Amino acid sequence: MAQHSFMLNGQKVTVDVEDSVRLLWVLRDVLGVTGPKYGCGINVCKACTSHINGKAFNPCSVQVKDIAPTDEITTIEGLADTVDAPLHPMQQAWIERDVAQCGYCQPGQIMAAVALVNKVHAEGREITDADLDGIRNVCRCGTYNRIRDAIKVGATRM
Ligand code: FES
Ligand code: FES
Repeated sequence: MAQHSFMLNGQKVTVDVEDSVRLLWVLRDVLGVTGPKYGCGINVCKACTSHINGKAFNPCSVQVKDIAPTDEITTIEGLADTVDAPLHPMQQAWIERDVAQCGYCQPGQIMAAVALVNKVHAEGREITDADLDGIRNVCRCGTYNRIRDAIKVGATRM
C-alpha cells in the first residue's frame, strides 16, 4: 500500500492503496464517489468521464500513482461548485430537455459536454455539429439526439 493525495471536487483527499489501482476504483470504492460510472473499465464507453485540471478524462484508464497531489479531479458531484449557481448550466439544460432515460451514462455525458464546450469557447468559437460528432460517450438507451440538443442549449449559457 502507498499513500496518494490529490484534489477531489475542491478538497484534498488522501488514500492508502496500491500504486496500480486505477482511479475509478479509488473514487467509487475507496472514496464513495459514485457519479463516475463503471461501464467497460478499458477507456471505451466513457461512462466514467470526469475532469482532470478542467479536461475530460477517463479515470478507469489511469493508475492512481499517475495522479499528482496538485491535480484537480472534478466529478459530476463537484460540477455545480465550479459555477456560482445551484446547478451547472449544462445540468440545467439536461433537465429542461429531459435528456436522461435510464441515466447510467448521463454523468459522463454531461462531463464530456462541459469539457468540450469549455475547449471550444477557449478557442473563441461556438460549438458545431462536427464538435458534437467527436463525443464518444456511449448511451445504450439511445438518447443521442436529446444530448446534442441539450449541449447546444447549455453552451449558450456557459
Ligand atoms: S468505464 Fe471508463 S471508459 Fe468505460
Ligand atoms: S440513458 Fe441509459 S445508457 Fe444513456
